[in-house]
Amino acid sequence: MKKFPVVFMLMMSVTLGGVPILYAEEGFASWLFSVERKKGVQPVTDAIYNEECSACHFPYQPGWLPEASWQKLIAASALEDHFGENAELDEQTQQHIINFLTANSADKSYYKRSKKIMASLNKDQAPIRITKVPYIIKKHDEIPEKLISKNEKVKSLSYCEKCHKKAEKGIFDDDSVFIPGHGYWSD
Ligand code: HEC
Ligand code: HEC
Repeated sequence: MKKFPVVFMLMMSVTLGGVPILYAEEGFASWLFSVERKKGVQPVTDAIYNEECSACHFPYQPGWLPEASWQKLIAASALEDHFGENAELDEQTQQHIINFLTANSADKSYYKRSKKIMASLNKDQAPIRITKVPYIIKKHDEIPEKLISKNEKVKSLSYCEKCHKKAEKGIFDDDSVFIPGHGYWSD
């Protein structure tokens, strides 16, 4: 048991000394490069959300919809019939997910894509689909249906990650688009 204090001191010095400094440095660096990093949509870091909302499609970043949309989508009654699927959650998990989504929703985000989402919606509009937001519709209106809904490898515009190769990182630039069965997108 004599060892304990030494180990304990070591742990304390790591948590009190090392880690915060590392975080502080990371925080400074991300602040420094924030213009670059805030271009896309804020990436998801919540493990529970990633786990629960990735079974059928990629876990959409909360910054794609305003808070009111997420409230509608994640209500218990709504999850029972979620676009024809049962996506029910236990109460605790549901609460965690709704907190995560509403805290990071498009109306609270400084990321460029979220700002564009909000700018394209009227105040009282809260669609339950990202693919029904005017900004998203407009960005995809030149892509023929044969590459989307009639493309076996994509099925619908809802499967962002099929074409946006950096979707999980929150990067949706047109130069990182590769349409399955078609190839890189070029104008
Ligand atoms: C059991 C499967 C399943 C699970 C689990 C699931 N979803 Fe879905 N989700 C779907 C289906 C199916 C669609 C409709 C896709 C389509 O129209 O092609 C959808 C669509 C969506 C859309 C709209 C996409 C669009 O078209 O813009 C959002 C937003 C969404 N889900 C969020 C969530 C969230 C948040 C969770 C976690 C709580 C979740 N989903 C869990 C099956 C699921
Ligand atoms: C069928 C493949 C495909 C799917 C699925 C898809 N996209 Fe796209 N997306 C594209 C292409 C291609 C472009 C570029 C269009 C252009 O330049 O005319 C694009 C452009 C965009 C842009 C604008 C990029 C820019 O540089 O201005 C955003 C934002 C975007 N998509 C978000 C999404 C989201 C969010 C989803 C899922 C809800 C999604 N996309 C699903 C193919 C797709």
